[in-house]
Amino acid sequence: MRQKKHHGLPVWPVLGMLPSLVFTGLRTNLYEWISDVLSRRNGTFRFKGPWFSSLNCVVTSDPRNLEHLLKTKFPIFPKGKYFRDNLRDLLGDGIFNADEDTWQKQRKTASIEFHSAKFRNMTAESLFELVHLRLLPVLETSVKESRIIDLQDILLRLTFDNVCMIAFGVDPGCLSLGLPEIPFAKAFEDATEATVLRFVTPTCVWKTMRFLNLGVEKKLKRSIEAVDEFAENVIRTRKKELFKKNDDERKERSDLLTVFMGLKDEKGEAYSDKFLRDICVNFILAGRDTSSVALSWFFWLLQQNPEVEKKILQEICKAALSESLRLYPSVPVDHKEVVEDDTFPDGTELKKGTKVIYAIYAMGRMEGIWGKDCREFKPERWLRDHHHHHGRFMSESAYKFTAFNGGPRLCLGKDFAYYQMKYVAASIIYRYRVRVLKDCPVLPKLALTMYMKHGLKVSLEKRDASEIQKYFTD
Ligand code: HEM
Repeated sequence: MRQKKHHGLPVWPVLGMLPSLVFTGLRTNLYEWISDVLSRRNGTFRFKGPWFSSLNCVVTSDPRNLEHLLKTKFPIFPKGKYFRDNLRDLLGDGIFNADEDTWQKQRKTASIEFHSAKFRNMTAESLFELVHLRLLPVLETSVKESRIIDLQDILLRLTFDNVCMIAFGVDPGCLSLGLPEIPFAKAFEDATEATVLRFVTPTCVWKTMRFLNLGVEKKLKRSIEAVDEFAENVIRTRKKELFKKNDDERKERSDLLTVFMGLKDEKGEAYSDKFLRDICVNFILAGRDTSSVALSWFFWLLQQNPEVEKKILQEICKAALSESLRLYPSVPVDHKEVVEDDTFPDGTELKKGTKVIYAIYAMGRMEGIWGKDCREFKPERWLRDHHHHHGRFMSESAYKFTAFNGGPRLCLGKDFAYYQMKYVAASIIYRYRVRVLKDCPVLPKLALTMYMKHGLKVSLEKRDASEIQKYFTD
């Protein structure tokens, strides 16, 4: 216990800081626990795991360190072998889990695609269809039947359909009246949850469990099989289709998967089906689980802050969504591994091989970054000259507001995600008042992205036309 003052947490013989992690961190809200420890330690602490584990790491929420590891010293902070091994069964060599050449070639191809005019058209068209022909009819039915709905579930269906449309050119049709059961979705969520458990389990333990096909690892294997089946089906269908077409017709398809299928690897051969599968799974994770959970936290925050809802009706949707992501970033923590000895701008010494966790959720709760009111939902902090009614939106440094990462690995879908979230949020808010059920506990789930553990149970109330009219005449 005497070491607590020096390290921020009690350090036990053999077990290191594991008892605090297990008995406080994992039993309550892990992200809040990390935020508290970081607040007390001025933004950086060294976690000492038990001697038998691989849990030793440096955890930081200091913007100077983030700029250092995400940009200035990007080459010596890859994602690294430890994290890749934990995530490999689910993500393979896909963009999220790759470094160096494997990452570079996916980044380049996807980046060209995401910045093309064709892609932007596809974005606008797909959202028009998803919102007007699918989302709104589903919501309208729930109002007519006075039914309670899980808004997070509905938003996940929307973003899943959307990412499949824009990235693979297929439409799975998850968001439709009657909300059909989607086995893929369940398997995918189970797989991300089980994968995260590996991070708090000693490597030798989960590897043994995987070898023996036991417990969580058995469940993970089954979930991944279901995920694979979906991806393989998409790839097979697309290949058949391309085979039938001639060159001109082929050019018409502009989705990402088709582009990757037309590329050759360094040996001059087409990419393997396994690699195409990894690309699919990574894009589903990137595109489905991020903006939907962000929108869910956003609607929950709106319920707690009615005065903000009023202002949104006066059009400040972008600032309010950024503020929501500041407090509930869809990717709550991220990681790197340093490949040569280095020192952080704040003085923290890093030995080669040290694992570094950057705590994005905690960053939104640092008084040093956002001021005393850091825990409050205040979209006006994003507006220049916010004392005036019509302050202009000002973006923040990616090393303070890291919800979309920064540097060379800045989120590729950022512009798309804002367009999608604004389109969806505005379409809902304009027509309905979202009422979150009082007794629905709202807590984050421990997974790769920050789902709401129990979904977001809401009922909708139709907004009166006169209420909207008021804002037009103001
Ligand atoms: C609110 C919505 C979103 C948030 C908060 C978000 C956040 C992030 C973060 C934190 C990363 C860095 C991950 C890492 O390297 O460890 C990332 C990367 C990425 N995101 Fe997003 N994202 C969002 C939406 C999207 C969407 C809708 C797409 C695609 C349709 C997308 C595509 C990607 C891709 C491809 C990468 C990998 C970039 C790379 O490693 O070079 N994102 N995103």
